[in-house]
Amino acid sequence: MTLTIAIDGPAAAGKGTLSRRIAEEYGFHHLDTGLTYRATAKALIDAGLPLDDEAVAEKVAREVELSGLDRSVLSAHAIGEAASKIAVMPAVRRALVEAQRDFSRKEPGTVLDGRDIGTVVCPDATVKLYVTASPEVRAKRRYDEIVAGGGTADYDSIFEDVKKRDERDMGRADSPLRPAADAHLLDTSEMSIEAAFQAAKTLIDAALQRKI
Ligand code: C5P
Repeated sequence: MTLTIAIDGPAAAGKGTLSRRIAEEYGFHHLDTGLTYRATAKALIDAGLPLDDEAVAEKVAREVELSGLDRSVLSAHAIGEAASKIAVMPAVRRALVEAQRDFSRKEPGTVLDGRDIGTVVCPDATVKLYVTASPEVRAKRRYDEIVAGGGTADYDSIFEDVKKRDERDMGRADSPLRPAADAHLLDTSEMSIEAAFQAAKTLIDAALQRKI
C-alpha cells in the first residue's frame, strides 16, 4: 500500500520547502501540484492562446508532463497569477487531478502539496497537514526571498497580492482552499522552517506508526 502525505495551504506559507524536506526524509516521491497549474498557464501563454477558454485550457492541461516540471522556469509572478485564473475551471482541474492521483500511487510513498490535496485529490491520504501563516508573515517571507535573490520588491504590493491570491483560491466554487476535516493544522507564523519540519515529522511519524 502506498503511503501518501497531503500538504495544503495558501501561497507562501512554506509548504514547498517543507514538502521537499519531508519527501527527502522518508524517501518518498514529491509533486508540487501548483507546478501543474503553472505549466498549463505557461503553455497557453507561450502558444499565444487565451486564458479564458476552458476547452482550450483543458486540452493543454492534458498534455502537461509531470516529469518535466521545473519551478525555476515556472516561478514568475505572472505565471502564478495566470495559474490561479485557469485553476477556477472545472475541466482543467479534472484533467490535472487525474494526473496528480496517478502520481500519488507511486511506491513506496508520495508527498503532494497544493490547495486541494487532502480534500479532493487524495481524500484517503495517510496523513494530511494544513500549513498556514498570517498574510503579513507570508508577504514578508516572499519579500525577503526576492531581496535575498538580489531583486527589488515592494512589501505593500506583495501583501496585496497575497490577499488577492487567498481570496481567489478560497473563494472559487470548485475545490476551494480549505483544511480537510481530518487535517492537522500547522501555523508557521512564529516558527522557523526547522521547527515546522520537526512539528510535521512528529505528526507524520505518529500517523505512519498507526498504518504500518
Ligand atoms: O502553489 P502555487 O503558487 O505554485 O500555485 C499556483 C496557483 O495554482 C494557485 O494560486 C492556485 O490557484 C492553483 N493551485 C490549485 N490547486 C492546487 C495547486 C495550485 O488550484 N492543488
